[in-house]
Amino acid sequence: MAAAFAAGRLTLDSERVLVPAPSCAASEHEAGIPGRPSRPLLVPPDQLPARAMNTAGGRAAQIHAMAHIEFNAINLALDAVVRFSQLPPAYYADWLRVADEEALHFDLLAQHLSSLGFAYGDFPAHNGLWEMAERTCDDVLARMALVPRTLEARGLDASPQVRAKLWQAGDHRAAEILDVILRDEIGHVAVGNRWFYFLCDARQLDPLSTQIDLAQRYRAPRLHGPYNLQARALAGFHTAELALLAAERSAPSVRKQRARPHRPAAGEKNPTD
Ligand SMILES: [Fe+2]
Ligand SMILES: [Fe+2]
Repeated sequence: MAAAFAAGRLTLDSERVLVPAPSCAASEHEAGIPGRPSRPLLVPPDQLPARAMNTAGGRAAQIHAMAHIEFNAINLALDAVVRFSQLPPAYYADWLRVADEEALHFDLLAQHLSSLGFAYGDFPAHNGLWEMAERTCDDVLARMALVPRTLEARGLDASPQVRAKLWQAGDHRAAEILDVILRDEIGHVAVGNRWFYFLCDARQLDPLSTQIDLAQRYRAPRLHGPYNLQARALAGFHTAELALLAAERSAPSVRKQRARPHRPAAGEKNPTD
């Protein structure tokens, strides 16, 4: 789809409102989500099975959990395209490219899961990623802040530890797949950053205090380290936000920090440039 859009074979009327904001969460929940299969069974996070890496079943459960994230991420990227109108063409091109890459990630993990004797849907899963999509359906700024910049960025943080455990357990193919995913996910968080900063600029909002406000207002999960600051920097987080995360060792919660208005210092790169 991304290639078709870039070549002009697929067009989108960005002025047209395709999904009216007030109808978003509740009605969609009742109607079901298009393209979502009946399995996996969705359960609260505390009811998920343990994912011990020293057993084949535990490793398969880990791969399945990641496949489920990627499955939701395809829908999330496409939802960002159809849900929000009146954005520049580059916004739609970015999110169509993300959808393509999420589909690749899902395929890689589903194939690997199959090589372990399992299929997508064999384990229960939780719906946290999609719930945040529903919560932020009324505002593209909140969506950029809390899905790519919060939930996908948490994936950057978690990736090195999960990769190390899988490698240590002898699942080198899974580790290779995680390398591909981490490389692409840095790009997805960068897309979130690009449009978050663009929208903050357009609405004359301070990015750092806006992020903290939105995290509180939309009840985003609490951030906790260790943070992959290198990957976050590559994804274009501003210096002030990275410094806040780096300083978190001496403070219990980023969300509790008092935000001071931040303007990029001279020479600080703005990822929207
Ligand atoms: Fe992904
Ligand atoms: Fe992603």
